[in-house]
Amino acid sequence: MKDPILRVVNLKKYFPLRRGFIETLLSRRRLYVRAVDGISFNVGEGKVFCLAGESGCGKTTTARLILRLIPPTDGKVYYKGVDIFSLKGKELKRVRQEMQMIFQDPYQSLNPRMRIFDIVNEPLDINRKDLSYEEKREIVYKALEDVRLDPEEVVDKFPHELSGGERQRVAIARALVLRPRVIVADEPVSMLDASIRVSILNLLMDLKEKYNLTMIYITHDLAQVRYLGDDMAVMYLGKIVEMGPVDEVLDRPVHPYTQALISNVPIPDPTLSRKKIVIRGEVPSPVNPPPGCRFHPRCPYAREICRREEPKILEIEKGHYVACHLYE
Ligand SMILES: Nc1ncnc2c1ncn2[C@@H]1O[C@H](COP(=O)(O)OP(=O)(O)O)[C@@H](O)[C@H]1O
Ligand code: SF4
Ligand SMILES: [Mg+2]
Repeated sequence: MKDPILRVVNLKKYFPLRRGFIETLLSRRRLYVRAVDGISFNVGEGKVFCLAGESGCGKTTTARLILRLIPPTDGKVYYKGVDIFSLKGKELKRVRQEMQMIFQDPYQSLNPRMRIFDIVNEPLDINRKDLSYEEKREIVYKALEDVRLDPEEVVDKFPHELSGGERQRVAIARALVLRPRVIVADEPVSMLDASIRVSILNLLMDLKEKYNLTMIYITHDLAQVRYLGDDMAVMYLGKIVEMGPVDEVLDRPVHPYTQALISNVPIPDPTLSRKKIVIRGEVPSPVNPPPGCRFHPRCPYAREICRREEPKILEIEKGHYVACHLYE
């Protein structure tokens, strides 16, 4: 990949575990939730990079780190070659404007007491003091048209007067007004009715083409990855287990966890044939992740080494990476 627009290097986020007062007194050891535990990936300009994996594997935390909404425990995020965690003042403000997030829940991400016009205009009010009211109004109307809402019809409304799909369109319009280069979309359609999901996905893809946006698209749904992704990474308990071009990973998955996600048959029956891989049990806790390969308690291929040694992530074919002892 030539000069990726975004480069994530060994990124980590450990949250201190909040415990009861007595528990804290009794135990001296501080415990951490290892939400993101040393992940690296590159995102090419104009591409859609998907982060996939079950709930709790660290996708949202990764998004928040990339947007510098929270500080990392370790690691770097380079945007156009610049380490975003080192930025201050004007430079930070500029990068913040160039990277925008679309959240999962359109019911919570819009201020219920603000009218749609003010919601979409707010980033301009804060960041573009150079613009007149008329100029801002024009940008807001254009953004609402871009997301296929009728500005005249919605500007004076409050979020509760809109449907879930319309609210998510408003959230997208708000993300667009500062002319970002990168959009981080965190499960943007998972709270919406299945019937309107495709229209929002299509809208995102159209906007991506129109404005040559780069997108980090987070989802637990591999059908969505297939629909809009260029490249993807599969996460498990804070780690990337497999990564590569979407067609490559989904058509020729090599990691047992990816294979299980794709075959999608969580039936705890060990007598089933090996072809249909079964994931047994629950996702373990990221507070005390299993030693060795984190997937070993659920992996049908786990061997002795898997319980002891953490597999390194290796390139098995051009651009296709996997972290599993079966391929070392
Ligand atoms: N602010 C926080 N404080 C403590 N733990 C957190 C915090 N945010 C997320 N976590 C934990 O980190 C892990 C990863 O969470 P998250 O990034 O939200 O995963 P995903 O988006 O893949 O569902 C989970 O175990 C979650 O409970
Ligand atoms: S390293 Fe071992 S336990 Fe982990 S996925 Fe590979 S075979 Fe399974
Ligand atoms: Mg999440």
